[in-house]
Amino acid sequence: MLNPKDKIDLNKLPSHVAIIMDGNGRWAKTKGKPRVFGHKSGVTSVREVTEVAAELGIQYLTLYAFSTENWSRPTLEVSALMTLLVETVKRELSSLNKNNIKLQAIGDLSKLPEKTRKTLLEGIAQTNENTRMTLILALNYSSRWEIVEASKKIAQQVIKGNLLIENINEEVFSDNLTTKDIPDPELMIRTSGEHRISNYLLWQAAYSELYFTSVLWPDFRKDHFYEAILDFQGRERRFGKTSEQLGLTKSNP
Ligand code: FPP
Repeated sequence: MLNPKDKIDLNKLPSHVAIIMDGNGRWAKTKGKPRVFGHKSGVTSVREVTEVAAELGIQYLTLYAFSTENWSRPTLEVSALMTLLVETVKRELSSLNKNNIKLQAIGDLSKLPEKTRKTLLEGIAQTNENTRMTLILALNYSSRWEIVEASKKIAQQVIKGNLLIENINEEVFSDNLTTKDIPDPELMIRTSGEHRISNYLLWQAAYSELYFTSVLWPDFRKDHFYEAILDFQGRERRFGKTSEQLGLTKSNP
């Protein structure tokens, strides 16, 4: 019997997968451990999905690592997450370079603790030439923040006389988002059984296929990722058109 990986059609891969890594706290609770233990264990899953994405040939992988709303968590948890980020970026840097993976970040990085910001920017600079895949960390990110920022940037261009209002279109708007030059995610995965997008890539996910799994993030392994991709490959993506227009009739799937 074929394992999930062998069933994947490499010619029908999503070029961008976005993941909401959820359930670390609940996973830790089931083990009678503090929430931070769940976050630390979640790093293994981060490594697994990064490996799978690179091996398969997915070009962009975006992980929701810290939302603007996450600042309201207990101070200890927030600082543990920031430390974990620093440690992980430092530890994984040589592996990212060895595997030709570029690190990038989206979000308001100016509000991150100095050490976190510095390590992250160093990681981004030191992997800048890599071309196989881009791993994007969404940090202090929220879509509404991003959309408001894009609106301000566009307004400034209009005020300066560099842009006419009638020329503002979807392309101009996309070019002013933090994801400029990154294709929209075709597949968005959320773990832990929650069925929400939680302020994540709202503009970019307009046509994303959504995949929800009850698996808690620290338990998410390669096979779970393969299953998500297989599920994606079984879907009919119509972008508002009919199956017939796309030549996707039952006899021609
Ligand atoms: C959500 O689980 C998870 C987070 C807010 C943080 C995710 C962080 C990591 C996996 C580790 C660091 C990542 C990188 C890229 C170095 P939750 O705490 O909301 O879980 P719960 O819903 O069960 O409480």
